[in-house]
Amino acid sequence: MILVIDFGSQYTQLIARRIRECKVYSEIVGCNADLSKLDPEKVEGIVLSGGPGSVYDIDVKKYRKIFTLGVPVLGICYGMQLAAQLFGGKVKKCRTSEYGMAPLRHSGNLLFKSVPRRVRVWMSHGDVVVKVPADARVIARTETTPIAAFQLGNFYGLQFHPEVRHTRYGMQMIRNFISEICRAAKTWSMQRFVDGEIMRIRKKVGRDRAICGISGGIDSTVAGTIAARALGKNLIGVFVDNGVLRLAEREEVEANLGSIMNLKVIDARDRFLKKLAGVKDAERKRKIIGHEFIRIFEAEAKKVNNVRYLVQGTLYPDVIESGRGIGPADVIKSHHNVGGLPKRMKLKIIEPLRMLFKDEVRAIAKHLKLPPSFIDRKPFPGPGLAVRIVGVVNPARLSMLRQADRILQEEARRLSRYRDIWQIFAVLLPLGSVGVMGDRRTYDSVCAIRAVHSDDGMTADWVRLPHGFLDRVSRRIVNEVKGINRVVFDITSKPPATIEWE
Ligand code: XMP
Repeated sequence: MILVIDFGSQYTQLIARRIRECKVYSEIVGCNADLSKLDPEKVEGIVLSGGPGSVYDIDVKKYRKIFTLGVPVLGICYGMQLAAQLFGGKVKKCRTSEYGMAPLRHSGNLLFKSVPRRVRVWMSHGDVVVKVPADARVIARTETTPIAAFQLGNFYGLQFHPEVRHTRYGMQMIRNFISEICRAAKTWSMQRFVDGEIMRIRKKVGRDRAICGISGGIDSTVAGTIAARALGKNLIGVFVDNGVLRLAEREEVEANLGSIMNLKVIDARDRFLKKLAGVKDAERKRKIIGHEFIRIFEAEAKKVNNVRYLVQGTLYPDVIESGRGIGPADVIKSHHNVGGLPKRMKLKIIEPLRMLFKDEVRAIAKHLKLPPSFIDRKPFPGPGLAVRIVGVVNPARLSMLRQADRILQEEARRLSRYRDIWQIFAVLLPLGSVGVMGDRRTYDSVCAIRAVHSDDGMTADWVRLPHGFLDRVSRRIVNEVKGINRVVFDITSKPPATIEWE
């Protein structure tokens, strides 16, 4: 296996998934883990992730052990700087931090096998290596970063991020490290993953029962299907109508999922809307929703004997953005099922997909032979329309957003590129704006349209929607939805924005 050491990068799990794409098993440990227990028999290579810190602020000597195991090590960004600092090189703050694409020239090292000599790479750093250790060889440069990669024995360092899609041939560089340099065994597959999770759940739950929070989306459906295969009738699916669902969502979920699992539907609309009344702050909304979900699951669990576990379809991006990754990462937003959970919980959580990304979950769904209607469903966040109504959530604003979103979805389904769009949705802004309709002045709400392309929800680009489409949607929303008199189109990527507005 390949060991990934996490120094708090937003992209650590992307590194692990690129390794899985090479069909090689990988494990992640935090940078504060006890590295003296590493078993050199098991580890075929090590990757050091990026991170938000600076290597000159820590005692790098404690990481010497990593380099004494005799296995190849790849350092990415912070990981490269760490090796540079440890072996006598020099790392300094950049005069201006560098984020975005940079043209790279490399010198033909094995790490760059089958990569064109000039290639565009993605940089995201505030520090830089200004002197490599004695005996190290610089193997790539960019105009602004003369030491963009170096090799020292069986250590390879990259200042840029090969794991993000924007780095052209980044996957090839990782494949070269895994296959050519580490010569790691190819033992990872979907089948092995599913079998492993079924065994793990069976062992954990034993003769007890579990409930599974079902949202109708692919993540909870896949997690629930794996758990149902492990536990049979001892798994109970619970779908909560939290009052912030889209139009007809509850009916769709009931119709689609009732036949797949033992499903209980709970109407908790009033309860959620009461708790959300008057709340403006996005993080508070997320936490309220996370808490209420758990309290409802706990109450349901009480009604059946021996329910001790809650299965959730949490994915890795939810974990890392909530600041609950393995290393010391920042909180971007508290996903309702991770950072939004109450501190004290009676049910123990099982999350079979916690380390995976959406497109990997789609591949597992295909492997499990789930109907294409699930596999192609666009992601919908657990806190629902509550995080798409910026500011206060109330029945009138919910109704406006539901109508606007229905129009957008109707029109979007007619687009030839609909399947390629990761998410397309309407957002209600906390703004009034002046309009003129039928010679009358109006002062109504503003609705934003958001559409993004993404592979995994970690990074996203806005979709260049046809003008004719935007025109149709705007006219229909303003004409058909009472209370909205202006439509705007969001043209921001992630980063710097996130996909949802809150
Ligand atoms: P952001 O807004 O963080 O969204 O760029 C990335 C992806 O995650 C979805 N999302 C959530 N999903 N619970 C969820 O189940 C949440 O709290 C949550 N917040 C965001 C979002 O729709 C996008 O696909």
